[in-house]
Amino acid sequence: MSDFILETKSLTKEFKGFTAVANVDLQVQRGHIHALIGPNGAGKTTCFNLLTKFLVPTSGQILFNGKDITSFKPAQIARMGVIRSFQISAVFPHLTVLENVRIGLQRKLGTTFHFWRSGRTLEQLNGRAMELLAEVDLASFADTLTVDMPYGRKRALEIATTLAMEPEMMLLDEPTQGMGHEDVHRVTELIKKVSSGRTILMVEHNMNVVSGICDRISVLQRGAVLAEGPYEEVSKNPQVMEAYMGTEAGVGA
Ligand SMILES: Nc1ncnc2c1ncn2[C@@H]1O[C@H](COP(=O)(O)OP(=O)(O)O)[C@@H](O)[C@H]1O
Ligand SMILES: [Mg+2]
Repeated sequence: MSDFILETKSLTKEFKGFTAVANVDLQVQRGHIHALIGPNGAGKTTCFNLLTKFLVPTSGQILFNGKDITSFKPAQIARMGVIRSFQISAVFPHLTVLENVRIGLQRKLGTTFHFWRSGRTLEQLNGRAMELLAEVDLASFADTLTVDMPYGRKRALEIATTLAMEPEMMLLDEPTQGMGHEDVHRVTELIKKVSSGRTILMVEHNMNVVSGICDRISVLQRGAVLAEGPYEEVSKNPQVMEAYMGTEAGVGA
C-alpha cells in the first residue's frame, strides 16, 4: 500500500467562475499530523468540504488508500473511516457528555440513535463510552449536561465523539479557534495523543500548535498550494513569509 493515505490530484473547485481551490495536489502520509495553513479565504475549508464530499469538485481526483473516492457520498466517506470533527460529530447540548459519546458509538454500529431504545442496550455501550471519555480526560464530566461544559472541554468531547466512530483519518478544521491559552495547550496535547495509530489533517492558524505537533504543512494561497514540507522548511520559505505579511504577524509569530 502507498505511504499516502490521502491524495488529491489537480483538485479544483469553482464557484460561478471564481476558483476557490485550484489544481491542488495534496499528499498526506499515513500516520502524520498534516497541517493545512494559509491566509483567510485561501480555500482551506473548501478543501475540507471537497474531501468530505460536502462539495462536489469541478475537476480533479481524491484518492483514499489508493482508491478513487471522488464520486463517493459523504456517508460513504465516513464509513470508510474519514471523519471530520466539529461538524459530523456536532454534539447535542442538552444531553450529557456520556450520552453524546454513546450516540457516536451507535452511529459506528450503524444502529441510528434511538432515544427510546431499551435501557439495557444503551448500558452495554457505557463501558466503551467511559473509556473514550477517559482518553480525552473527561471521565469526571460523564454526567454533566454538555451545555454546561467549558468551551475547551466541549471540543475535547467532540474529539471523543469522533473517536467513537473509529476514524482512520480525522479532519479537524481550526480545532483551537477561539480558545484561551490553557485550552489551546490541552487540546493540542489531546490531538497529539489521539493521533497515535491514525492520520490527522488539520486546518490551524496557531503557529505554535502547527510547529509543535505537525509533521508536514501545506500552505494554500488563493486556492493553490504555495509550499509543502516540514515546518522548519516552510516557515523559512520567502514566498510563504510574504503571503503572511499583512494578514498575520508572520509565520512563527
Ligand atoms: N459556497 C461558496 N460560494 C461562493 N464562494 C465561496 C463559497 N465557499 C467559499 N467561497 C469562496 O472561496 C474562497 C475560499 O474560502 P474558504 O475555503 O472558506 O477559505 P479559508 O477556509 O481558507 O478561509 C473565499 O474567497 C470564499 O469567499
Ligand atoms: Mg476556513
